[in-house]
Amino acid sequence: MNTQNCQKSTAPSANSRVPVIVGNWKMNNTISEALNLVKTLYDALVALGDTAATREIIVAPSYTALAKVCEFLQAHAHASPIKVAAQDIFWEDSGAYTGAIAGAMIKDAGVTHVIIGHSERRQYFAETDATVNKKTHAALRHNLISIVCVGETLSEREAGKVEEVVERQIVQGLTGISGTQLVNAGLIVAYEPVWAIGTGKTATPQQAAAVHTFIRGVLAQNFTKEVADKMRILYGGSVKPDNSKELLSQDNIDGALVGGASLKAVDFLGIIKNSL
Ligand code: PGA
Repeated sequence: MNTQNCQKSTAPSANSRVPVIVGNWKMNNTISEALNLVKTLYDALVALGDTAATREIIVAPSYTALAKVCEFLQAHAHASPIKVAAQDIFWEDSGAYTGAIAGAMIKDAGVTHVIIGHSERRQYFAETDATVNKKTHAALRHNLISIVCVGETLSEREAGKVEEVVERQIVQGLTGISGTQLVNAGLIVAYEPVWAIGTGKTATPQQAAAVHTFIRGVLAQNFTKEVADKMRILYGGSVKPDNSKELLSQDNIDGALVGGASLKAVDFLGIIKNSL
């Protein structure tokens, strides 16, 4: 059993939210491709002098590549600002659940973070706010840092339901979790308008900032302002090097969850460089 994680997480202190850039590799990259990509990123970040204190960089490879990617980063842990996320977790800890992955298995690979409730999981794998909630509880039990995804579809936006949908996803997804738990666990929220994911359509910085401010308000209302101020809220949806600077400079946007552009080191690094 692996007791050492890729990197210790840096919990943000009050009013000093460390930016987080997450690369969600989705169903891409074999083990050797994943290793090549993480090695290229590592070399470039070391050359930039990045540390986990300046910004957190997280990559989310496929399950088969998790252990190898973590092994590489553990061997370079003294210098690496890169941490590793799984793309999902199942809510039960073990048993007859064919195809599912348990928290202990992810931890054993050396992972620190887990993406929960990504819109592709909601769309293709019947995830609901209730399953997101069970998975978030499972991540807490296993000391994994959750990146909980929320966001409206195009028809929900056109029907004027952005706030209603996002609030429901947050409130139901975080049911039964206290503000202290959220802060201690370093839980991260990612706002990803479904219509902007993989479509090349990005929310304008103003559209994104408005929803991020709304989300922080929902967190303040359901927990406390102190809790809300400490939590990182990421934007996701067609983030690219050329649109990231403006998005990431908005109040209440604390980082990015990047899909397509995270598969090319040069693009992902371009986004990372725009995050400070
Ligand atoms: P995209 O994906 O950057 O390819 O739009 C974002 C995501 O799904 O997290």
